[in-house]
Amino acid sequence: VMSVTNPSFASLGGGGFALVKMGKEAEILDFREKAPLATHEKYFTDKKKSSSYGGSAVGVPGTPAGLRALHRKHGRLQWSRLFTTAIQMAEKGFRVTGGWHDDTLDGMERFDSTAQKLFLQNEKPLKPGTVLTQKALARALHLFKNRQEAGFYSGLVAQDIVRTVNARGGDMSLKDLSSYKVAWRKPLIKEYEGHKIYLMPPPSSGGLVLHSALSIVEKVKAREKTPLSVDELHLLAESLKLAFRSRSLLGDPDFVTNPIDRLLSEKYLSEQAKLIKSDKVLKLEPLKEDEWLQKKKESPETTHISVLDAQGRAVAMTITLNLNYGSGVVTDQFGIALNNEMDDFATKPGEANEFGLVQGTNNRVEPGKRPLSSMSPTLVEKDGKVVMALGAPGGPRIITSVFHILYRTLTNKMDLDRAIQMPRVHHQFLPNKVFVDSDSRFAPESLEGLRKKGHEVEESWMGLGFAVQNKEGVIHSAFDSRSEGAASGL
Ligand code: GLY
Repeated sequence: VMSVTNPSFASLGGGGFALVKMGKEAEILDFREKAPLATHEKYFTDKKKSSSYGGSAVGVPGTPAGLRALHRKHGRLQWSRLFTTAIQMAEKGFRVTGGWHDDTLDGMERFDSTAQKLFLQNEKPLKPGTVLTQKALARALHLFKNRQEAGFYSGLVAQDIVRTVNARGGDMSLKDLSSYKVAWRKPLIKEYEGHKIYLMPPPSSGGLVLHSALSIVEKVKAREKTPLSVDELHLLAESLKLAFRSRSLLGDPDFVTNPIDRLLSEKYLSEQAKLIKSDKVLKLEPLKEDEWLQKKKESPETTHISVLDAQGRAVAMTITLNLNYGSGVVTDQFGIALNNEMDDFATKPGEANEFGLVQGTNNRVEPGKRPLSSMSPTLVEKDGKVVMALGAPGGPRIITSVFHILYRTLTNKMDLDRAIQMPRVHHQFLPNKVFVDSDSRFAPESLEGLRKKGHEVEESWMGLGFAVQNKEGVIHSAFDSRSEGAASGL
């Protein structure tokens, strides 16, 4: 349904991760996009191709294969029943919301001609309340319903994707689509405040950064500081900075060896925690790849759904096209908005991507490889039962949002809604500045206090948070007042 109502971030032309616990074992489904087979390390330097817009920005979509794999393993309703509402909303239309209008306004400068035709009227986004029908998309949904994966990864839809991507300057083939495979992976685990937290492993950086940041805030005893005091915010920001410094060493585990064990060792994390000073801001060099990586050659706009039932079965799933409307490319025949996930690779050495992230060799472009992500679907377990499912959209601010929600609920014992609405500080190591929630969420004195400690402070957008918690047998669900969302319970 969201692929119909929210093409800017939930189209079938994207990818994502789901963290699922239906029985004893928690498992990860990786349906992240892959680099087309024609791409290579120098693809974006040699050919002057864009990783942000147009056909060259598009990774091979994973969302349809992911949804099918989840259903095949854990689904209870009949596959065809899942399409009824989506197809109806695409065929008969739905009224666009204010959020849809604003997203379209933000994204329209990168729109190709098909996106302009579908989502604009007189060169402006459809006004809130206007009915949007997508009959071509309804036909694609019919094909996916009737032929399952084959309805998307081969035949008419695959041909439409390949033709459109290549007409807009990309290099995708039918083989890219027919050979796309999801991967099942094992979560990273962090014991924290009497809970067991299941986290995303590579190709997401979310789990490693969250594990590191939570370990460091424990060691610097941030819990002894008053919530939102300058001293507390300083410790949270410095912990995030150190944790994000490790991120540049990561890449797709199917292609590179990630030094996870070393980065999460007690010894290394204790050394990192000791670097933090209460009255001064850390200035550090990036970690050196030749000291960390094996030498041999080795092979805002995102959304999140958290589900938890009374038996403790849980799903945390994040899907994305990367930026708002992804690459701005919408397929000519079926109207499927396509991602720009290629920008999550280290496309040019030393250069920051759209999120300001400077990334390393392990995340260079290679054919068939998945770009490093920050998406962080997360589950929290107590005494063998999942008690919280959470996640967020927001590029690297995803990790910060999940970090703050875990910290506020598990350490400060705040209720879920308050934890999500509390102002957040974000630090991603580079640039060396603290991004703070905008819209006057912080008192001016707090920001002045951070500046006095030596932080460069910048007001910024923040990731969102969507979570559901089982607190003493009562289910609480909450979403972020910073944007649209919904919480529901039975
Ligand atoms: N496309 C944003 C992320 O995966 O981190």
